[in-house]
Amino acid sequence: MKKLAVFVSGGGTNLQAIIDSAASGTLKNVEITAVFSSSRKAYALERADKAGIPSFCFVPKDFDSREAFTVAMLEKLRELKIDLIALAGYMVVLDPRIVREFQYRVVNIHPSLIPSFCGKGNYGIHVHENALARGVKLAGATTHLIDDGTDTGPIVLQKAIPVLDDDTPETLQKRVMKECEHQILPETIQLMADERLVVDGNRVFIR
Ligand code: GRF
Repeated sequence: MKKLAVFVSGGGTNLQAIIDSAASGTLKNVEITAVFSSSRKAYALERADKAGIPSFCFVPKDFDSREAFTVAMLEKLRELKIDLIALAGYMVVLDPRIVREFQYRVVNIHPSLIPSFCGKGNYGIHVHENALARGVKLAGATTHLIDDGTDTGPIVLQKAIPVLDDDTPETLQKRVMKECEHQILPETIQLMADERLVVDGNRVFIR
């Protein structure tokens, strides 16, 4: 059984997808051990509560320094013996120390087909606004392992859906979440838990 920590900052629909996959047995041999939130107001915390998952708030501004914030999180991760981390709408850039300690064991979900519409400024609804403004015909989501950059780590899974003529950023965001993100994030966690990923530079092979 692998111990998973899910990092959140907001609504937590991706957290919910992980909880539901575990409850239905689609996601196997993974225990959702903890939810770490960067905000006390995140609705994701209520989702964790309802599912009986312990949650911890590590809010950057509560700490004297970035260093103290990182050390506190690392201590908790070690104490809980966490094996895997899923960043599910986590709005804080992960400190390189955590990236190093959990190399290839941290996955992020991004609501576009990377390398389109990713990196600085491409978060939340802006990703979908930018995709529509550019006129792309396909949208989608990407899971990738975390490295020291923003949305630059090795890609694990991508899922695409067509953009519809009457799409607005909001309708596109909703479909990308439901039809792409909520499927490939639990799938990626399963692959990581089963130790099926082989990383070679920027390429990830599924064995
Ligand atoms: C999702 O679109 C995710 O891809 C992005 O942030 C959003 C979080 O949504 N990184 P939720 O909190 O999981 O509902």
